[in-house]
Amino acid sequence: MAVSSKRAPALKGTIIAPGDKSISHRALIFGAMAEGETVVTGLLEGADIMSTADAMRALGASITKKGARWHVIGCGESGLQTPKGDVDCGNAGTGVRLIMGAAAGYALTARFIGDASLSVRPMGRVLDPLSEMGISYTSEPGGRLPVTLSSNGKLTPLDYTPPHASAQVKSAILLAGVSTAGTTTVTEPTLSRDHTENMLKAFGVDVKVKKAGAGQKVSLTGPITLKATNVDVPGDPSSAAFAIIAALTVPGSDIIIENVMMNPTRTGLFETLTEMGAYLRTDNFRTSGGEIIADIHVKHSKLHGVTVPPERAPSMIDEYPILAIAAAHAAGTTTMRGIAEMRVKESDRISATVALLENNGVRTTEFEDGFSVTGGPVAGGGMVVTHHDHRIAMSALILGLNADAPISIDNSAMIATSFPTFFDVMASLGAPINGLNA
Ligand code: S3P
Repeated sequence: MAVSSKRAPALKGTIIAPGDKSISHRALIFGAMAEGETVVTGLLEGADIMSTADAMRALGASITKKGARWHVIGCGESGLQTPKGDVDCGNAGTGVRLIMGAAAGYALTARFIGDASLSVRPMGRVLDPLSEMGISYTSEPGGRLPVTLSSNGKLTPLDYTPPHASAQVKSAILLAGVSTAGTTTVTEPTLSRDHTENMLKAFGVDVKVKKAGAGQKVSLTGPITLKATNVDVPGDPSSAAFAIIAALTVPGSDIIIENVMMNPTRTGLFETLTEMGAYLRTDNFRTSGGEIIADIHVKHSKLHGVTVPPERAPSMIDEYPILAIAAAHAAGTTTMRGIAEMRVKESDRISATVALLENNGVRTTEFEDGFSVTGGPVAGGGMVVTHHDHRIAMSALILGLNADAPISIDNSAMIATSFPTFFDVMASLGAPINGLNA
């Protein structure tokens, strides 16, 4: 359904960040590989995670919800199994890439499919290294889904240096390495989110991490059967970002967001906003599921443009569309480059973000590897084409909260992939976001 947002009064209140999407995928995938029962609390119940749950059931795990807890009974020693039908990963890039890596280590054949957006995203980045380890596959041209992956379960360990920092690629190879005899190593040029390394340790794997320049070398020696453990999923900084930028840009706002994961491989946005002059105060540090979490107090702030260092990209790769909304309200120009990866996310997020802003009277410049935004009053009034991308949809609605005319989006259903409670959470802060037909 089409939805619009309009100029908001000061946003006030306390909200809780929804469960982290990256950690939720991993909890279900690792639990499905493990021996025994993994109990997950705080799981993000977004559509992407439900796709991963269905995929892991298809590969042999039992996944059920009892009360607020998710119970995963893994395949353990018997390993993931050849599924009866297709493994449908929906819209989830993280889901499909990690699951292909996990499945690669077992003797099975599986056909992976996804929705229209996932079906145009590149899978060669995991299929190529997995082929070096010994899988075979057929795919649509360019390594696109549907992909049929076959493995004899006897892979060769790999020492791999991906061309750019990607937690999805790193994770897929390490998960294949778990079931492979010998030592599998991934050397990252820049550190990407480290949830796989951290969580594999909690599942009993001796993961070795060594610093290597600005990046790291991660290795593990298989075969190992993961041991079930309990996972308490911390709040998602990438989802918290939408409420944070709303409060920073709507005059008079003063909000608290509780339960936000502060893992340094995920907090590049907070660093950038602080450089832009944002009032962001973190408090009440504690741990949840092995990660540091905190509450963030945010007040409306006078922002100024900055140049975001390209090396910060891996720690905020999903946050550039919403950072662009902050930049639209900042004095001067904000330049974001070295982020060509954004072109192969749920949509081409560089061109989608630029179009979103231009449609609503914000000045931008597009580069092959990024874009810049010059701040000022936002005219609004545009109908934003979301390309079925949840982060583009939410970013557009946040821009509408401080624009001269309401901003509409063509579709809002896909917001449920990562932030199913977005509308309720924003309404609780007083944000006027409404269905056009409501
Ligand atoms: C993710 C890694 C990132 C990110 C994605 C989640 C993960 O992708 O964009 O939303 O959970 O590993 P890349 O690894 O391709 O950068």
